[in-house]
Amino acid sequence: MQTPGRHLPCPLPTPRGPVSSFLVEHLTRTPHDLPVWPTAEDDPLTGDDTHLALYLVYELAYRGVEGVDERWEWHPDLIRLRGQLEDRFEAALIDLVGDLPDVDDVTEFLQDLTTDDSDGRSISKFIASDGDLHQFREQAVHRTAWQLKEADPHSWAIPRLGGKPKAALVEIQADEYGDGVDQDVHAELYALTMERLGLSSRPNHYLDLLPGVTLATVNLVSMFGLHRRWLGAVVGHLAVFEMSSVTTMARFATALRRLRFDPWTCLFFDTHVVADAHHQTVAATDLAGGLVEQDPKRLDEVVFGALALCKLEAKLTEHMLGAWDRGESSLRGELDVTGPAPGQDLLHVPADDPRLRARV
Ligand SMILES: [Fe+2]
Ligand SMILES: [Fe+2]
Repeated sequence: MQTPGRHLPCPLPTPRGPVSSFLVEHLTRTPHDLPVWPTAEDDPLTGDDTHLALYLVYELAYRGVEGVDERWEWHPDLIRLRGQLEDRFEAALIDLVGDLPDVDDVTEFLQDLTTDDSDGRSISKFIASDGDLHQFREQAVHRTAWQLKEADPHSWAIPRLGGKPKAALVEIQADEYGDGVDQDVHAELYALTMERLGLSSRPNHYLDLLPGVTLATVNLVSMFGLHRRWLGAVVGHLAVFEMSSVTTMARFATALRRLRFDPWTCLFFDTHVVADAHHQTVAATDLAGGLVEQDPKRLDEVVFGALALCKLEAKLTEHMLGAWDRGESSLRGELDVTGPAPGQDLLHVPADDPRLRARV
């Protein structure tokens, strides 16, 4: 059974500092000219106040925010405030990424970047081998800000592309959106996983629990997607996602099976293992390679988008695994899980269901 409110706007979050407090106070009123707003002073890469404020403003471009007039989306003062937050974030990302490498072949560069041959720590590696049910639920909650609107920010690139890269992006996005079958939309499959884990699938239900570093990973792609000048970066971002997905998703599916979850709970991950085996090639060659072939000036943007994603994800990994090493929650508060995880009830699995057979 679906969680009520699956497609409702984002609930109004609890503010975390001067900028998010200012926004919550003003956005809940009829659109009006804003007085002087406070300047964000926390970490521009991971700060709670900065990234909640930016996330909240970006939600106005997705499904909106509960109790917030839709006209705020394009209010000039709000666009100026958003621009200031973005400028700080962008400057910090440029520092984080550092000098861009010389790249001759963008496809080869992306392949090298996403080949996981390091001994470095990763959330999916840890979860596959040692993660317990509570840690699996925690990482699933971290990913709700992205997975429950998976693909949407990349779609903003569609009208800005032409020819080969456009066709490639549309091919990938068609699968992400379920090829015309609503149950197969990847965000819906994630909602199913959340429900089988005994968690809410309502988008942004857990927003107050998500730390700034998690919100920053989603703000990154929203910022790239909303600005045409970052077209190459949104392509680089998507290429890295697709090219690192098969291994990562297979690890999460392994963890779920080790924890005795049924195939419905695994469906989101199993679907990605199959779909992204194809998407990774399309993204590396026709999408990223095709864009750079058409417009070589976009090469540095593709490289920047790919590296910014990897480096910001590394910060999230450090945050989550660090918290678990210390025996703490990686969320901003306790995850309130009531009742058992329905997906662990293996007795009720219709094993011959064609939707499962097609993928596993
Ligand atoms: Fe997907
Ligand atoms: Fe994909």
